[in-house]
Amino acid sequence: MQTEAEVFGAEHITSGVGRLTEYVLEKGEGSYVFTDQGKKLLDLTSGIGVVNVGHCHPTVTKAAQSQCGKITHAQVNITYSAAQITLLRALLDVMPFKELDTFFLTNSGSEAIESCVRIVRTVTKRPNVIVVQGSYHGRTAGAAAMTRSKTVYSMGGHPLMGGVFATAFPFYAQQGEPVDTPEEQLSQKALAQLRLLLEQQTAPCDTAAIFIETVLGEGGYVPAPASFLQGVRAICDEHGILYVADEIQSGYGRTGTMFAVERIGVRPDIMVMAKGLANGFPLSCVVGSKEIMKKLPAGTLGGTYAGNAVACAAATAVLDVFRDERVLENVAKRSEQLLAGLDAIRHTPAGQTIEQIRGHGLMIGIQFKPHDVSIGGMLAQACVEHGMLVLTTSIFDVIRLVPPLTITESEMDEALRILCAAFEANLVGSEGVPPFPPSPLAPSMLALQVLLGVLALLSVLCAQPDAGHRAVHATTTLAAAASSHTINARLQPTVSLKKRSYIARPLSTVTPNVALYLPDIPGDQHDGGATSVYYYGPGNQAITTVYALVTGTVGVGEGPKTTYMYQGPTEAYLANVERTVDLGRAKGGVRTAPFNVKCVYSRGLHRMGSCQYMYLSAQSTSIYEKNYKTMIDAKTTITPVAWLVQSMRREAATSGITTIPAPYSATSSAASLSSLYGLCTALIVTLLVGAFIV
Ligand SMILES: Cc1ncc(COP(=O)(O)O)c(C=O)c1O
Repeated sequence: MQTEAEVFGAEHITSGVGRLTEYVLEKGEGSYVFTDQGKKLLDLTSGIGVVNVGHCHPTVTKAAQSQCGKITHAQVNITYSAAQITLLRALLDVMPFKELDTFFLTNSGSEAIESCVRIVRTVTKRPNVIVVQGSYHGRTAGAAAMTRSKTVYSMGGHPLMGGVFATAFPFYAQQGEPVDTPEEQLSQKALAQLRLLLEQQTAPCDTAAIFIETVLGEGGYVPAPASFLQGVRAICDEHGILYVADEIQSGYGRTGTMFAVERIGVRPDIMVMAKGLANGFPLSCVVGSKEIMKKLPAGTLGGTYAGNAVACAAATAVLDVFRDERVLENVAKRSEQLLAGLDAIRHTPAGQTIEQIRGHGLMIGIQFKPHDVSIGGMLAQACVEHGMLVLTTSIFDVIRLVPPLTITESEMDEALRILCAAFEANLVGSEGVPPFPPSPLAPSMLALQVLLGVLALLSVLCAQPDAGHRAVHATTTLAAAASSHTINARLQPTVSLKKRSYIARPLSTVTPNVALYLPDIPGDQHDGGATSVYYYGPGNQAITTVYALVTGTVGVGEGPKTTYMYQGPTEAYLANVERTVDLGRAKGGVRTAPFNVKCVYSRGLHRMGSCQYMYLSAQSTSIYEKNYKTMIDAKTTITPVAWLVQSMRREAATSGITTIPAPYSATSSAASLSSLYGLCTALIVTLLVGAFIV
């Protein structure tokens, strides 16, 4: 159940801000963050590559506190700021090339990028800029025009700033090449595209600069190969085009050197940094040579808060920490530890889903083999369940590991343990992973089903209103405990499961003797009396498998009805589900086919979800869109989605809901058993199961 703060946030914060989890963070310390409910989470995101020296590093905090007592706002278009001058002196010492010696400080990465566009246009007197496919330079209007990693960053914002052209980036997935394509080949192909662009779309005399992230960040954590950047430098030199390195995410020690361009040794004309610069205080910086940066007329750059004094003091302290705590040495060691751990995971069965592990230092991306669901997305959610924040990135299936650069050896071990657990919890049943082992009790299922079928029939005959669901729970729980993976549920057809459509007829009717209703996960109470009810598949030894997620309204005297989908998890994935559908005599009668089903639910009341059925045939998976779309009628074999169960258990545990009748029969009129009868049933089944076990 949502906390009060989560509910408030959901109501009063624009839906334009997406997030990984609904937790409310209250505190951060080193590599950990803490929610307002006291939950401790290992932070492998560093707030998207920002808190490089850890949350609330004491040296940084002290410097900011001290600056607050001196001056907080020393406006840079009025005077020089002492805090800025101190920072710039320290920054000069860590610049990767001596030519980079003249600075402009502002607030955010996007503002720095936009300032940079202004600089390159002014200096070269040329209008156009080139970016690479997959780039991310920010969300403000100009920066969004230069962002090519996902359409969501520009969607609805057109027309964007003009004069931006995109060229290829040497990334196998973007170029449609196999994962093992040699880097040199990818680079040469991308450079050829750049030359073409300059001949076909934007003439060199119209082109001011090319902006390149030294490691594509939002585009998938893909390091630019040295050969590519060397080629770009040569093309720029040939045509008088400026090369701008966007090191907003890859800079500040992230890849093991202070800036990623250092490792490659290619000098940019301008470099942009932010994120780790002030460890969470808003500060960004454009640096170039005097020759470039002194060509700007006074007043063309600036801003009310540009280079804020408190942020500058914090940034100076960050550099102290880098020096005093030998942060870069830690990056080298922890990177080695992380990569070794990931390599070990890759060799486990669950790790077979990994296509590529890439990156340097503590900016590591894991790309998964193409699959019909986002493995990265599932993994990130599983990590949250296990107490760790991990982000996905790009349109490809990639997770990024971006821990604080000060992460300790034991914290990294913990991160690897959690990752390993998340892989195992999530990926059973995925491509290349051995199937879930059959239950040793499986042979008993047939007999049990027959028996329970008889009992269910009896139950209808001696039905009494409003009684007995507890007994049914007992019966079905026992049945499930004794079962194989096969369950036989019968659900009513729905009008459509497309987004925004409404299920008009009762959906949540599940035959009691085969579906498992877990009474300890009773459901959520919603406004207006509607109630969600969860169904789970048979428990198999220690692991309970998710069968289906159905919500229902318990109407007065009406029995169960589904009027909207569950508001809890946003995604449920049922792998290898065998569905049986009666298409009617004319269309071939009863058909059974293997599917993977992915259901995505939007949150909140009266919101709908959509389900995709992916038909599995001869090793390949194709999305089945026609006949079965509106039916959920299953004779089902399923694999575990353990993290989802855990998540629901957690939600149910805090929901405070007590008694929800189980909508266990096919019609509301057959919806009860007498308590006595239920108890007898439970007893018989218990004895039976016991006999089988023995
Ligand atoms: C490479 C890169 N450039 C620019 C930006 C934009 O920075 P900001 O979010 O501070 O505007 C980001 C932010 O993630 C980034 O990763």
